[in-house]
Order: sequence, then C-alpha cells, then structure tokens
Amino acid sequence: MKAAVLRAPGASVEITAVPLHEPRAGEVEVTIAAAGVCHSDLHVVRGEWDVPTPVVLGHEGSGVVSKLGEDVTDLEIGDHVILSWVPQCEHCRYCVSGRPWQCEVVANVVAPNGVLLDGTSRWGDGFHHYLGVSSFAERVVVPRSGAIKIRRDVPLDVVAIVGCAVATGLGAVRNTAGVPPEATVGVIGCGGVGLSVIQGARLAGASRIVACDINPAKLEVATKVGATETVSDAAELSDLDFVFDAIGRIETTEAAIAALALGGAAVIVGLPPAGKTARFDPLALAEANQRILGSNYGSIDPQQDIPWIIDLYKAEMLDLDTLISGRRPLEEAADALEDLAAGRTLRTLLTM
Ligand code: APR
Ligand code: ZN
Repeated sequence: MKAAVLRAPGASVEITAVPLHEPRAGEVEVTIAAAGVCHSDLHVVRGEWDVPTPVVLGHEGSGVVSKLGEDVTDLEIGDHVILSWVPQCEHCRYCVSGRPWQCEVVANVVAPNGVLLDGTSRWGDGFHHYLGVSSFAERVVVPRSGAIKIRRDVPLDVVAIVGCAVATGLGAVRNTAGVPPEATVGVIGCGGVGLSVIQGARLAGASRIVACDINPAKLEVATKVGATETVSDAAELSDLDFVFDAIGRIETTEAAIAALALGGAAVIVGLPPAGKTARFDPLALAEANQRILGSNYGSIDPQQDIPWIIDLYKAEMLDLDTLISGRRPLEEAADALEDLAAGRTLRTLLTM
C-alpha cells in the first residue's frame, strides 16, 4: 500500500509502503481516485501544527468504496464518495444537536491523536491518520460517516477538492456567515479556499466581491470565478459587510477586522500556525456592532452539504476545473507541496 508519509515535523515527505488493516465495524475502505493538496498539509509538514507522526498525509480526496466493515448499511461497494475530515461520531452533544462540524470526538480524539473514531489506527507500523482521512494513499480506511456518497455523473477526480477547499469556502459564506444578497464582501487570499469563498459570495448574490492576494496570477483567477474588484494589499480593504481571511496569517486576520463596515463580520477561515494571537480593538468592535466569527470546515453538515455542492457543479453554477492547476502522480506529493508553498499552483490533484 503506497502512501505519502511524514515521519517527523519538518522532515521531507516520502513515498512508503504502509500496511493497511481491514475496516472495523462502522468503517469502510476507499480506493482513492484523487487527492487535493491543501495548505493545511503544508502546515503539518512544516511542524506548525502538532500532529502525531509518522502520519499518512492528505485530508481532501475522492474515491470508490472497496470494502465494508460490519454494520455499514448506507454505503455499498462501488459507491463514489468524497472524504470528509469531520467524520462525525453521531453521539456527542454537537452531533445530536445538528452541528456535526464540531463533533467532540473528532476535536478531542481523531484530530489530535491521529486515529479513527474508536481511538485506534487502521495503519500498521505505528502510522497515524491525518484528520481521519489520509488521502495521500492508494487506499484508506475511514469511518462510514467520513465517506460521503455522491452522484456518479461527475468526474470523480475533479470533485476531490470539494472535500476540503470548496466545502470550507462555500460553507463559510452560507453557513458560518449567512451572507445575504447585496452584501459587500472582501476575501483575503485566493488559494483553493479563498476562490471557493469568492464563488460562495457570488452564489449568495453579493453586490461587491473584493479579492485580495499578493500574487497577481491568483487575482486573475479570482476575477474569472466571480470577484468584482481586486487589491494586492489587505490594508486597501475597507467598509465591507463581510471580510473572509482565507489565509490565516495574523496580519491578514487583523486586516479583515479592520476592513469591516458598521455591523460587519470578519470570518476566520484560513488557519494560522498553532499558538499565535491576533489583536483587535474591543471598544471599536462593540461600538460598530461588529463580529469576529471562526469557521471550522465551513460549518458544514457533510452529508447534506457535499451533495449540494456537487449538484451546483453539475448545474454549472460552480467552477471547480479552474481551481485545479494540474495533476501529478502520488509519487510527486513532495513536489506538489513545494509548488503550493512557492505559490506556483492552486489545487494540484494527486492521482493514484
Ligand atoms: N496578503 C494577501 N495574500 C496573501 C498573503 C498576504 N499577506 N500571503 C499569502 N497570500 C496568498 C497566497 O498568494 C495564496 O494565493 O494566500 C493564498 C493562500 O493560498 P493557498 O496556499 O493555496 O492556501 P489554501 O489551500 O487555499 O488554504 C488557505 O486555509 O485551510 C486553511 O490551512 C489552510 O491556512 C490555510 C488556508
Ligand atoms: Zn484543507
């Protein structure tokens, strides 16, 4: 079983054979079609987030169900699925109250310990899962709730990016922020996540969508997918109803708050290195009736929202193809991560 692994924070990404065990009760094995390379994988490689190693990387992907564990009745072998990095436990107080994106077991067990919902790993040789997904591999075992069944009449490789970037961006606009028609919107960072925020704002009927990126090539793509104006410095943003930080640098988070109109909301979608703090003026925030919102996985309910996003793509209301800047074989995972770090690519698809 070939996989792209990280042996220790700061090490280079290697292709290694890793043993994969059978799915247990409530789990499925998925044969991966494609995996998207996200900036979050880079955070892990650089040691900016504390993730147990050795780890099989990747948290965005699509594939075909190839084995069923016991008690799995809602998926069949051959189903096309998108992998979700919040595979809800369905029992905690967040899951039962309709907030699966905040599943306590994912937050306290799956993500920090690099395991599946039952607290153990399905990888052999001491390897860990990454966010319950580990899509940089030929096959994976995931909880049943982490494999979202989708329609079969869309290209399975292209829709891989729905699993993180697109769900996060569209969800942040619709679910976390609830952007209404005619709102004015700023988006800082036009990578896979930011371009999805821009498309979410377009679908919401925003009257202005101001895209910000230091890379002019990214701003061209932003305009193609719906931005109405572009700026190269976040300090140029002002008087906006919603500003999304789709990068997660401290200065961009602070710029997002500073750019709000009266009653506006800053939405933190991109994630900074662990342990950083940002500053804001609470008096000004209160007087202007503004809000700062955190958005985890776009506050999505994967079972509902991922099929909704796929339908938007099928109806040609959502552009996924433009977000994919290229494809590389799994063996080139390290090069794909380097390209992303250098700003040379948007989403690269790793194909197995
Ligand atoms: N001002 C404006 N744009 C910037 C700045 C800056 N100071 N610094 C970087 N950028 C732009 C880059 O040029 C790039 O286009 O931010 C974009 C980030 O895009 P990607 O690297 O493709 O990141 P993405 O995968 O979209 O993820 C964004 O969301 O999920 C989290 O951890 C992830 O923090 C990351 C964020
Ligand atoms: Zn991601």
